[in-house]
Amino acid sequence: MALRQRIRLVVNGKSVESEVEARMLLSDFLREELELTGTHVGCEHGVCGACTVLVDDLPARSCLMLAAQTDGMRVETVESLASDGNLHPLQQAFWDNHGLQCGFCTPGILMTLAYALRTRPELDDEQEIRRVLSGNLCRCTGYQNIVAAARQAARHMREAAGDAPVVADGD
Ligand code: FES
Ligand code: FES
Repeated sequence: MALRQRIRLVVNGKSVESEVEARMLLSDFLREELELTGTHVGCEHGVCGACTVLVDDLPARSCLMLAAQTDGMRVETVESLASDGNLHPLQQAFWDNHGLQCGFCTPGILMTLAYALRTRPELDDEQEIRRVLSGNLCRCTGYQNIVAAARQAARHMREAAGDAPVVADGD
């Protein structure tokens, strides 16, 4: 008989309680138990970054974590970004800059950037943004528009936070 464990956690601001198989991956828990299918699963080996979510404010590859490990923790998925029908600045910037093609990598990239911009709102340098995204693989875009979107979102978030407007870079 499969070993099961009861877990309590907060997912996208809501308390969740569930009994899971001890070996269930966090990515499967999110997608199959909670029907939060915005978290994509690509390689299932921690390589592609498509499954990136935030666990207690830090980026984590949900294909490498067990759901049971998140007991007592906070998990944020891409579904948490938009609020009250409004896109998050990152989502708006991806829209504005055509920052995706097939979109498979996009949720993981958005969560990686969401973390980066929370902790480093000054982020603007192209090479630094590429370094931040080095663990998120995209087979379609060539990254150029993703970087442009990240820079736009960072500018808009700084402006919204009350910093002096930053000279626009083409938007
Ligand atoms: S699916 Fe998790 S890193 Fe690729
Ligand atoms: S948009 Fe297709 S993998 Fe990134």
